[in-house]
Amino acid sequence: MIEGLFIVLEGVDGAGTTTHTKLLLDGLRQRGLPVHTTREPSDGPIGNMLRQILAGRVVVPGIRGPRPPSWSTMALLFAADRLDHVEAEIVPNLLDGVTVLSDRYDHSSVAYQSVTGGGDPDAVVWVKELNRHARRPDLTIVLDVPPEIAAQRRIQRGRGREIYDDEDLQVQLAKFYLDIERHFPGDRIVHVDGSRSVQEVAADVMKHVRTLRGEPV
Ligand code: TYD
Repeated sequence: MIEGLFIVLEGVDGAGTTTHTKLLLDGLRQRGLPVHTTREPSDGPIGNMLRQILAGRVVVPGIRGPRPPSWSTMALLFAADRLDHVEAEIVPNLLDGVTVLSDRYDHSSVAYQSVTGGGDPDAVVWVKELNRHARRPDLTIVLDVPPEIAAQRRIQRGRGREIYDDEDLQVQLAKFYLDIERHFPGDRIVHVDGSRSVQEVAADVMKHVRTLRGEPV
């Protein structure tokens, strides 16, 4: 049995990772490829707790009142969720020959937790170490979107606020993602300009997946 491909979509909040994971699923299924989509935080037990934390429903007591858990607690939880996700969902599908598309992976931890940890290079090293056993994707597609466009899209989608919905933080994250590959030497990482129309972006995403599969583009 040939293993499935493991493909990750990444970017800031509002970059379009969820839309393009779905469109890539449709596109690959139309070609008859068995595909499974998933996301992080995962739908496992730790992932569910992380969603509650992100929504501000789980707080820790602080001197100035309740606050979300620290960046380092978040890094540990995301890493635990990831390894559970790999073991329970990603690897079993890949071994069954199914291509797995994940909306976010450990690049999000390296970006969000290190930036909220103050951007200290030691934070990056530590977060990467926590994720050392996370299986590497065959391809990571980073959707680059200027922070102003991402902010407009977040308002339009009208979901409740999350703990990382902060303009300054999102500006720093957009910058971090522009050359995120420097933190993942050896990984196959491509950038797609995510500020264009959905169709144009989807076509580019598919082009990169076809190249990975060795198909003519
Ligand atoms: P979600 O609400 O699903 O956002 P989106 O649909 O835009 O991806 O939650 C993901 C949030 O969690 C997002 O703000 C990024 C953050 N995150 C981390 O901080 N670290 C991580 O390792 C992961 C996977 C996500």
